[in-house]
Amino acid sequence: MTLRFSCLVALVLGASPALAQPKPEPADFLLPDESKMTPFKDRVPMVFVTSNQPEWKALTTFWTEGTQETIDPATGAKVTQKVVKLKVPLGLTQAPAVPAENPMTVEKWVLGKQLYFDKILSTNGEVACATCHAPDKGFADARRTSTGINNALGPINSPTVFNSAYNRFQFWDGRGSSLEDQAQGPVGNNKEMFGGKADPWEEAIARLRAKPEYVKAFMAVFGHAPTRDAAAKAIATYERTVLNGNSLHDRAEALMRKRVIAEETGKFVLKAEDYTAALKDEFARKGPALKDLSLVADKDAAKADEFGKRLLAGRDLFFNKARCTNCHTGDTFTDHTFHNLGIGAKDGELPLDEFGRFVRLPTGHKDTALVGAFKTPGTRGLLQTAPYMHSGDEKTLEAVVDLYDRGGNVNAWLDEKMRDTAAEAAYLKARAEGKPVDAGVKTYGPSKKPIIPLKLNLTAQEKADLVLYMKALNGDPLDPLVSDPAKFPK
Ligand code: HEC
Ligand code: HEC
Repeated sequence: MTLRFSCLVALVLGASPALAQPKPEPADFLLPDESKMTPFKDRVPMVFVTSNQPEWKALTTFWTEGTQETIDPATGAKVTQKVVKLKVPLGLTQAPAVPAENPMTVEKWVLGKQLYFDKILSTNGEVACATCHAPDKGFADARRTSTGINNALGPINSPTVFNSAYNRFQFWDGRGSSLEDQAQGPVGNNKEMFGGKADPWEEAIARLRAKPEYVKAFMAVFGHAPTRDAAAKAIATYERTVLNGNSLHDRAEALMRKRVIAEETGKFVLKAEDYTAALKDEFARKGPALKDLSLVADKDAAKADEFGKRLLAGRDLFFNKARCTNCHTGDTFTDHTFHNLGIGAKDGELPLDEFGRFVRLPTGHKDTALVGAFKTPGTRGLLQTAPYMHSGDEKTLEAVVDLYDRGGNVNAWLDEKMRDTAAEAAYLKARAEGKPVDAGVKTYGPSKKPIIPLKLNLTAQEKADLVLYMKALNGDPLDPLVSDPAKFPK
């Protein structure tokens, strides 16, 4: 009955029922129409080249255009494609993993970069990803905690996008699993980009679909109108190229390898002379790492020996006495796990809103070892990303080192690696035997469990050398194609 009626209406209106009420295309995802996409032969894939590949040395810039012979999978025909080779900076020995469903092409990267810097993703048009992850602020925002839409003050420090391509988890509490996953968060966050009423992504996608340039770009890359799925993929593609490496430390390591191979000793161990040699090269090219160490190109060349020794001392502290590599390890200096350093603890007590990773664990998997635990951040590019910690509480690297020197901030769940477990055992034994115990030790719970932070007992000189070493991890400035919002490939 209804059907017949609507047909009649359609007849009267002279249109089919489907056309009378066009349904909007869903915002989340769409299937591609291959015929609308840039033809295979005209797509430009992006390929990472790492320092252990022979062609790496021949690449003189981060971004190098070339060509490759390949087979069009749809037709089987041989085609010559343009290709962009990305020179992964020294020190990052692996290429970032790229999900199979989101291969990198230049067109997708360009779209992702536009979206990253475009305030269109926020409801009021005032906030972009780059507002809180700005290239000139180390892809962070230089604030204690972020300010988003309508000046809303967020609860947590903005982490850098540097090397986030290598993160096993995204966000301080690890609730994001990939860059694609992470990129969908801010648009719906009412302290970051969302100030609307209905569905944040539906609104954002409607704004993109109202812009013919974006419709055209999404069509070329994805074969359909803008969607949430495609926007996240494009932004992640851009983020994968925000790589920080080739630091003075990496160059000293490379020189060490060369030296050891020449000496034929097989002992691949850094010496002060390796840092000195890297510094001398830096003086010769008047490179940016000099400023990172507060050295002046024309004045301080004679200090290369002294600084070489101090850098080695700082490096040895980081790896040994100061135990930093217990957690800051690997190419990007993180163990990709979570630890409680007591950031946010006051007078030995940790407030509920500082429970970190524990809150994110699914029920059935709650682990008290992760109460107050936050993700170990990398330690590259630190000179650009102050203030530090998830709270933004530590303003300088000196303050960070002081925090570790006292063993972090005591609280009931302080990470085992931050504790003096031998002293805790001695305390328990003394107490059991009725002997006097240190009244200054904090104890927790009904069993009065002692928590004793592990003091590092660093001297002033050691602290200074450790800070100097971290400064030597600052890394080369990024290629302007990545860091300059206005620069795009031809
Ligand atoms: C208002 C400021 C703000 C805006 C806008 C913003 N972010 Fe963030 N971003 C943050 C903060 C704060 C965190 C940490 C949040 C947390 O861990 O709970 C974060 C986390 C991240 C991370 C995780 C890094 C890591 O090491 O865990 C990435 C990647 C990121 N943002 C990229 C983006 C992208 C892409 C956009 C745009 C779609 C964006 N951000 C928009 C502030 C912002
Ligand atoms: C037990 C593991 C662990 C050890 C040991 C450790 N760190 Fe950390 N580091 C972390 C975690 C976790 C954070 C983030 C903590 C937070 O915000 O709650 C962090 C944060 C930092 C930051 C701030 C980075 C940023 O972007 O905000 C720096 C710098 C740092 N550590 C340097 C060091 C140095 C230097 C040492 C050695 C003296 C060291 N760490 C030892 C786990 C560790």
